[in-house]
Amino acid sequence: MSAAHLQLDRQGRLLHFLTVEGLTRRHLTEILDTAESLHGVAERQVKKLPTLHGKTVVNLFFEASTRTRTTFELAAKRLSADVLNLNIATSSAVKGESLLDTLRNIEAMQCDMFVVRHEQSGAAEFIARHVKPHIAVLNAGDGRHAHPTQAMLDVFTIRRHKPDFPSLRVAIVGDLLHSRVARSLIHALNILGAGEIRVIAPRTLLPAQVETLGVQVFHDPRLGLREVDVVVMLRLQRERMEGALLPSESEFFQRYGLTEERLALAQPDAIVMHPGPINRGVEIDSRVADGPQSVILEQVTNGIAVRMAIMSITLGHHARSIGESA
Ligand code: NCD
Repeated sequence: MSAAHLQLDRQGRLLHFLTVEGLTRRHLTEILDTAESLHGVAERQVKKLPTLHGKTVVNLFFEASTRTRTTFELAAKRLSADVLNLNIATSSAVKGESLLDTLRNIEAMQCDMFVVRHEQSGAAEFIARHVKPHIAVLNAGDGRHAHPTQAMLDVFTIRRHKPDFPSLRVAIVGDLLHSRVARSLIHALNILGAGEIRVIAPRTLLPAQVETLGVQVFHDPRLGLREVDVVVMLRLQRERMEGALLPSESEFFQRYGLTEERLALAQPDAIVMHPGPINRGVEIDSRVADGPQSVILEQVTNGIAVRMAIMSITLGHHARSIGESA
């Protein structure tokens, strides 16, 4: 069974959230609409809902993260769950414990949800295959494969500014080769019927046969950025690069960096996005990152509501599936 199937129950409801691939527009719209209804919780005096009261969420992070881990933690807390943060990179994995043993031990602590980030593609899926049936597994980024909650917060942010998807032109720029964010975002945009998805990068930073994902390929930003409504910049993932894929960071900025001049090629009301962490002066100029068209910090805020939505949807379906089989 593929990850796409593993995450659904027999009625096609989301039990885990491992990948955007294979989901329908209905699944994605349910997440986006739920996130929209949860978005206002942060403006209340008491920023909490009782949805996950009595549930325990474990953040299992085998790889560094700031934004994703903290917004998952806040999302769980705003739904009244108890949260455990395990930074495995500095604990048991270092002592040689296998992933399965780590898993069994945390299961023994009677948790209800695992949020997993791992440097290996397929790690969250592996965990979902091996956990007890009442546990929901959310993928918070696995290797170069997928980062589905990031894709959902990206499309949520886009929808809030540009709700007309069929007429939407989106450009994704930079290091697509190493980017799980780009892969998941392309799937989400295609499922939601975005008009045109462009990728702009040097050949060395594009995955093989990227066109098969349903995108148009550009190597020159002067052509690719023309009249787009959304520009998504990606970080140069130096830590994942083997050998010399690039001449130098300054040359990359010269050719691909998002400057005010380049952004002027896009629609005048185009929005600028970046999953973070941003490298100023490498893929994006500070004047653009901090400029009026940037929604980069809005993406971070939106990440909380979107993660709240995904947590309540998956755990709600678990509760229903268990009820039905009882
Ligand atoms: C991304 C990631 O870790 O995949 N960041 C994130 O989750 N906000 C992208 C990156 O590291 O460049």
